[in-house]
Amino acid sequence: PYLNSLLSQDCETPQLNPVIEPLSWMLGTWLSDPPGDGDYPTMKPFQYLEEVHISHVGQPMLNFSFNAFHPDTRKPMHRECGFIRLKPDTNKVAFISAQNTGLVEVEEGEVNGQELSIASHSIARISFAKKPHVEQITRTFRLNSDGKLEQTVSMATTTQPMTRHLHITYKKV
Ligand code: HEM
Repeated sequence: PYLNSLLSQDCETPQLNPVIEPLSWMLGTWLSDPPGDGDYPTMKPFQYLEEVHISHVGQPMLNFSFNAFHPDTRKPMHRECGFIRLKPDTNKVAFISAQNTGLVEVEEGEVNGQELSIASHSIARISFAKKPHVEQITRTFRLNSDGKLEQTVSMATTTQPMTRHLHITYKKV
């Protein structure tokens, strides 16, 4: 908040850096609608709420935060934040995320129109991270024709092959 207030001292929102124009459809504050679906062969299906902020400060990258909540108790659950970068003059994307579970990951992939597909390139975790460990992650983000943002996350762990873990759509608020 302190640095962001410095940012706004010079008045309005900074101009969008042209490098990230291909990802501008992701910008905004988004709320799950309907609640997201969680799944995995090892667990009972569950639902969750999620609030997403995707913003920029004029740099050639997006800033993001994804904050999940329990649908009934509203208790905070999974949280992650990071940056999305575009290699200038290409459609090559890097997604850099730190998660409250002790996982830090880099995913890479491509943006094509209003769809971003990425796969893990490196994953690091704290020494006492809960098992089973994640070995691979893939995600797809898409802006649908009804204006909703959709995210699908699949993962492979030390016990399961690549399988879907999350599917959620968000409406812009
Ligand atoms: C379980 C990874 C995002 C909710 C798990 C497990 C892993 C994992 C490895 C254990 C799987 C097993 O026991 O076989 C991830 C990764 C995420 C992510 C890599 C993001 C890229 C989320 C989100 C939610 C969530 C957004 C929403 C609330 C859960 C729940 C469980 C679970 C409820 C089962 C209980 C538990 O183990 O805590 N996740 N997860 N996860 N995840 Fe996620």
